[in-house]
Amino acid sequence: MHTSLGQSLGQSPGKKSGVLGAAALTALACAALTSSAQAVPPGPAAEMTLRQAAEARGFVIGGAINANVFDPDAPDLGEGVAREYNLVVTENTMKWGSINNTPGDFNFSLADLFLKYADKNKQILKGHTLVWHEQLPKYVGNIETKEALITEMKNHIIGVVTHFKGKVPIWDVVNESISDTAGNPNPYRENSPFIKLIGPEFIEIAFRTAHEADPAAKLYYNDYNVEGINGKSDAMYQMVKSLLAKGVPINGVGFQTHVDMNFSVEHTRMKENLERFRKLGLDVQLTEVDVELKGDAPMTDKLKKQAQTYGDLLRVCLEVKCNAFIMWGYTDMYSWRSGSKPLIFDMDYKPKPAYFALRDVLLNTPK
Ligand code: G3I
Repeated sequence: MHTSLGQSLGQSPGKKSGVLGAAALTALACAALTSSAQAVPPGPAAEMTLRQAAEARGFVIGGAINANVFDPDAPDLGEGVAREYNLVVTENTMKWGSINNTPGDFNFSLADLFLKYADKNKQILKGHTLVWHEQLPKYVGNIETKEALITEMKNHIIGVVTHFKGKVPIWDVVNESISDTAGNPNPYRENSPFIKLIGPEFIEIAFRTAHEADPAAKLYYNDYNVEGINGKSDAMYQMVKSLLAKGVPINGVGFQTHVDMNFSVEHTRMKENLERFRKLGLDVQLTEVDVELKGDAPMTDKLKKQAQTYGDLLRVCLEVKCNAFIMWGYTDMYSWRSGSKPLIFDMDYKPKPAYFALRDVLLNTPK
């Protein structure tokens, strides 16, 4: 069981994905997950947690967390995340502006607490995110030359990845660089200092630098509105294909999957889309899943539709042999779009129909 869990994180079909890191991540993921799975043997299906249902098939299921998991007055959250997820990712704490707000003066104190939390609960801690045009410190915006920005970007990546070397086995290296109105000749986002000053080659530099800092870490490109086949996912496909052709150390692509309850896996041709990335030899993950409620239908109907969409997303992920299903939070209470109740636990930390839909898919989808 644990071998296949490790394999699901560490292996790609077809040609070997990018580079490396696979064996080390496999070992780490196995080590991280073995003891907890042994400590809590799976019970009857009806009583299994999501984590148990995932581990029973060697799969990784996770979510984004914030410092409120440490709140002693709200133990339901910290305990719930440990019970239900075997991977956690910090929603904001490991972003450039949070961790390196003064050049070179890294502040790892909060991130290290998350590492401790993950370690204690035998969870993988995923790193999010090294280079993004948002949540940057002021000094990055003040940089005026290409050379200076490359230097600062490399220093940032080396400082962060080195600190977590051997402890954070997977990184979102570059986040959201494809334009929302993708189309030739410029498929890249224009409101990014990295594109403006360095140009698209910043992506290659970022991946190579992260790889130098921790050759065993698995390195991902991550973006939104790329779940189905569309102009943006076409541009992303061309981008990663050309990175691979140049030998850039990229291991996988993260599909954020911020959608609403009416999202259709079929109409968007999501399976076909994920498969084309898999055929490049890349791993794929759904990395920030949340499913907004919409419209005026009775709440029970909306929750049912939301559950169905969650189930469809996980099923397609399993069918293409994705290596993780990661949600952007745990309870609606602390979602970044709390008003539309997009997560699988409600404001009172009770599991919603979507929770049970995910568990059914984990238990009933062939391996
Ligand atoms: O920490 C400050 C606090 O000190 C201040 O009082 C408060 C006032 O607004 O702001 C707090 O910072 C906020 C931060 O979240 C922490 O709560 C920022 O304003 C707010 O902009 C920030 O939003 C985050 C957003 O990324 C930043 O663009 C969301 O929580 C986070 O969920 C979201 O996550 C992104 C992924 O990283 C990338 N993909 C899209 C996803 C959703 O936007």
